[in-house]
Amino acid sequence: MTTPDTPEGTGGTPATGLPMAFPADGLPARVRIHEVGPRDGLQNESQVVPTEVKAEFIRRLAGAGLPVVEATSFVHPKWVPQLADAERLFPMLDGIDPARLPVLVPNERGLERALALGARRIAVFGSATESFARANLNRTVDEALAMFAPVVRRARDEQLHVRGYLSMCFGDPWEGPVPIARVVRVCRALLDLGCDELSLGDTIGVATPGHVRRLLTALNDAGVPTDRLGVHFHDTYGQALANTFAALQHGVTTVDASAGGLGGCPYAKSATGNLATEDLVWMLDGLGIETGVDLARLTAASVWLAGVLGRPSPSRTVLAQMNQARPHKE
Ligand code: HMG
Ligand code: MG
Repeated sequence: MTTPDTPEGTGGTPATGLPMAFPADGLPARVRIHEVGPRDGLQNESQVVPTEVKAEFIRRLAGAGLPVVEATSFVHPKWVPQLADAERLFPMLDGIDPARLPVLVPNERGLERALALGARRIAVFGSATESFARANLNRTVDEALAMFAPVVRRARDEQLHVRGYLSMCFGDPWEGPVPIARVVRVCRALLDLGCDELSLGDTIGVATPGHVRRLLTALNDAGVPTDRLGVHFHDTYGQALANTFAALQHGVTTVDASAGGLGGCPYAKSATGNLATEDLVWMLDGLGIETGVDLARLTAASVWLAGVLGRPSPSRTVLAQMNQARPHKE
């Protein structure tokens, strides 16, 4: 539902559940949202979420128009017990094109498991810092790259789409600030392995917009084109949306977000939830940027999951939309 166009802008108002749209110069016309809630979000839940709930959450997110919904990880079940049900979950999603359901695989064993179930889109996940590479993958940075090499090669032979995540691109809880040159080196290495796209992770949410701009420029200077880059901001310091806007201004068109702001990382204690997908969609709708996402259906999915988890979503947009839906007191 939208209100009529006005000289100031077009579209809705908060009362309709949509922002007014004011397109701004120098921004992309369309953004692809890479939804990570069921993977990055749920992997951090201490209570094991029933597989049926995960499947229903993913169906609702896909039904809200999210083009890709990262479904799960084929990692060692002892490392991430929450996602130990990947073999049961993935087949429950058979109504959704597997090309819309990326899964994380760290190694050849993970790839075997994913291929056996018909996965068509995978992500390997490296680190810019040694401390996180050790904590997350039990490897050095370069050992992890060596572990990914046969995975990416085989995935490409099987014509899978391969994303390369890079964690700790801005700061690291053990090592502090991360030099841009180190991030650039590992990004180049992941692309050289054959990754189709990279996702720049601010795992602990310490980035600020100028830092984002500086890193993107350094990557371009090193021959990494912006159209191969996505951004992945956690919202620990409330900067995720500002950082995303800086990336959009730079020409980035792939943005990771987590429905309801779920998330964290079990191997980086200071990480909190990702940028909430609803907050992102509200801003993109307001900028007149196409996403294909129905904000009302997306919010409903997050409200439903929050009900199952027994606690409210941290997303400001989800909260605002819920308050808006309550009857006004006279
Ligand atoms: P390891 O202990 O070094 O494993 O862990 P290994 O290679 O020595 O193998 C040991 C045993 O594990 C073997 O079994 C393997 O078969 C088995 P055994 O011979 O002893 O019986 N094994 C597996 N079993 C099932 N599936 C597998 C698998 N691999 C080995 N895939 C490993 C190395 C990579 C497996 C481990 O460190 C791991 O699973 N890590 C995953 C950690 C993780 O998922 N972290 C969260 C995702 S990253 C993230 O959230 C950041 C991101 O959001 C971006 C950002 O925010 O920055 C992406
Ligand atoms: Mg993450």
